[in-house]
Amino acid sequence: MTSPELVTLTVNGREVRAEKGRVLIDVAEELGIFVPRFCYHPGMKSVAVCRMCLVRIEGTPKLVPACATPVAEGMVASTVDPDAVDAQEGMLEFLLINHPLDCPICDRGGECPLQDQTYRHGPGASRYVEPKRTFEKALEISDLVVLDRERCVLCWRCVRFSQEISGDPFIQLVDRGPGTQILTFNDEPFDSYFSGNTVQICPVGALTSRTYRFVSRPWDLKTAPSVCAYCSVGCPVGNDARADKLVRVQALPNENVNDFWICDKGRYAFHYVDSDERITTPLRRGAAGSFETASWADALADAAELLRNAQRTGVIAGGHVTTEDAYAVAKLARDVLETPNVDGRVQDAGAPYELALRVSGAAGSTATLNDVAAAKTIVWVGPDPKETLPVLYLRLRKAVVDGGAQLVVVSPRRMSLDGFATRVIRCAPGGEADEIARLRDAGPAAPLVACWGPASPGRDETDAFTAVLDLVAAAGGRLLTCPPHAGSQGLIDMGVHPALAPGYERVEEPGMDTRAMLEAAAAGELDALVLVGADPIADFPDAALARRALESVALIAIELFPTESAQLADVLLPSVAYSEREGTFTNLERRIQKLEPLTAPPGAAREPWRALASLAAALGRPWDWDEFDDVWAEIRARVATHADVDHVALAQQLPPAQTVYESAFEDDPSHTRAILAGAGGHYPRGFRAGAPFQTGQNWPLSWELRAFEAKQRPGVVPAAPDARDAPEPVRRDAPERARGDGRLGLVTGRMIYDAGTMVSKTAALAALTKPPFVELNAGDAERLGVADGDDAVVAANGTELRVKVRVGDVAAGVAFVPYDQPGARANTLMSGDADPAVTVRRA
Ligand code: SF4
Ligand code: FES
Repeated sequence: MTSPELVTLTVNGREVRAEKGRVLIDVAEELGIFVPRFCYHPGMKSVAVCRMCLVRIEGTPKLVPACATPVAEGMVASTVDPDAVDAQEGMLEFLLINHPLDCPICDRGGECPLQDQTYRHGPGASRYVEPKRTFEKALEISDLVVLDRERCVLCWRCVRFSQEISGDPFIQLVDRGPGTQILTFNDEPFDSYFSGNTVQICPVGALTSRTYRFVSRPWDLKTAPSVCAYCSVGCPVGNDARADKLVRVQALPNENVNDFWICDKGRYAFHYVDSDERITTPLRRGAAGSFETASWADALADAAELLRNAQRTGVIAGGHVTTEDAYAVAKLARDVLETPNVDGRVQDAGAPYELALRVSGAAGSTATLNDVAAAKTIVWVGPDPKETLPVLYLRLRKAVVDGGAQLVVVSPRRMSLDGFATRVIRCAPGGEADEIARLRDAGPAAPLVACWGPASPGRDETDAFTAVLDLVAAAGGRLLTCPPHAGSQGLIDMGVHPALAPGYERVEEPGMDTRAMLEAAAAGELDALVLVGADPIADFPDAALARRALESVALIAIELFPTESAQLADVLLPSVAYSEREGTFTNLERRIQKLEPLTAPPGAAREPWRALASLAAALGRPWDWDEFDDVWAEIRARVATHADVDHVALAQQLPPAQTVYESAFEDDPSHTRAILAGAGGHYPRGFRAGAPFQTGQNWPLSWELRAFEAKQRPGVVPAAPDARDAPEPVRRDAPERARGDGRLGLVTGRMIYDAGTMVSKTAALAALTKPPFVELNAGDAERLGVADGDDAVVAANGTELRVKVRVGDVAAGVAFVPYDQPGARANTLMSGDADPAVTVRRA
């Protein structure tokens, strides 16, 4: 790590040493000197268009924008020079000529940078009495975002976000002069997976969220920091509740994880939390076969009896449980039920994460997300990250577009990364390993990060992962494993794995994995199963097997909703949602982050770890856990990798500003310790309170700035991000690869908006869910006599799904079917074949 070059300058008479190249607005901010601003945002490049931040630099003839002025040795700056103050007042007076001042009905009221800065830096009265500019009001530019153009101050933040950060520039500045306005093109919707970020960074109420419009005032909100419960990126979020109802989720900044952003699924898919369909009391099977409500004591007594009567048991956990829940799952299985049959891989059934132990001390990543940012070569072998790990997609894009990394994508299907990849290799499924071996032999530029995640549920991807590990070892690079869900890594870390005990200790006699448990259950060779947040019928890549299995055993389930799997339970215990609990998630880089409770759980719902502790007690093996701290005391005592995790500090620690300069490439490559708060930062604390000025994101500016604008190079207007032509894929899929039986290889993958719980309970997102489809390449489509847009039937395993045909860039001989779109679950097409196949015919 090289030390940054420092310069000495003076701001408002105070001398400060700061890193050369940083912008003055941030150096002043850290001194506690706030320079008003609209266009400047620490997560984007400076453009200096609003002229709100004009300051005086001694020796320069004109005022300069502090957001685009790098600090220099000997600089003497004044933000309170009379000319600067006059300019700031003048700019606000100009902005208010047209701003409608409809604050009483504007969502931004009470947390509006324009409002705040007008009070602090404005002129107090306006000399302009002319009629204000008006536009047709409240344009719904997408299912999620509303635009009130007359409120816009033309700071370009939304436009720059969509060009520079998300790379889907649907929102633009159009027209010229006084007619300049923000708009989408030709009434095309603002069709971005990241659109909510523009709402969050808009410094006025020009862009607002449809789901939050007119819902609350900031002073009516209670707020708590948390972590998104969807994917394994683990974006820090702030949850806002009004009258104990979760009403808004916003990104919290952490430059190590999500920069300043979250995806629209993370932002909007929280409506399941207060769904009327939640399970609120324990339920048990009554004499008539239907569920009856029960007390916890009675339900637990029933569950305990079922388990006592079972000779052979197993426990399966789903991907959204916390690290503490995961620890409790493994403990229940191994210590109480005394079974080795425990697994947390349901959708990612059989994914061989444990192979990573070959290159590190962890069954998981050795790379951090910052390593991805610092890499010269990134190899991607996995699902489409824009659909499944959206903020990782943003970080990969930034690594390529801003960082100049070479990105190599190996995939049987075109994905989002192809648009800015350096090299795309299109191979038939199963062909990835050879391609990665070729890459290894070609000697890619160091440092290298290879990313691997289960790409197609139900496929055996062991060879591809093994080749990735060989590549990492040969290149001296790092590995980023990308399991699917927020809780996936915590499950592995805590030993919810048939071959690994907590802390990646190998168990002497491995138990059954999810598939083996389901097969044994269906064959009458398992007597009881405990499901903890797991819905194998919806998620496991063999729906029929899952159903047969669950119908054949005594079943105890802990769940939020009466899912299809839960409905088969003999005892069903209500669980809590992420905003209702204290807990931690461990993300894909093995960073542990804390969730704080905000809303009350409905009825008698409990955290899964608490329910499992109660179940253990009902089985005569009490764990002596009352609080979250008790669970962590035991984890620290018994899990070697987590002995140093200070779970209390997780809730208190601010991100150490210097960490962004560190590259994990330089430290111990074995990475045997979990990544802790102190090694990478956490959500800011108190991000609402005490900040007199806000950029519209509700956190004080100073915490993250040092890190961010060290990377800023002021005055640079970004080039159109995706201007580069997408590379022509290197094709390794044998054209017209025939299986001999006329079938096509089945490849699947989740879409961001699917038929899962989070999306289906959020009307605004459910409306964005695409109908099911099968994607074929042109040669296969022609051979099968189907064309783009045709209705088709995809069949396998006695199941037929009616879907639309899409002709696209898919390897020859492959049919891509999304995993879980409404009315068509791809897992019904699978029956345990590690190379699943389907037939496709015109409907
Ligand atoms: Fe949540 Fe993943 Fe989206 Fe981040 S990228 S907000 S963790 S779903
Ligand atoms: Fe807009 Fe500096 S903040 S010009």
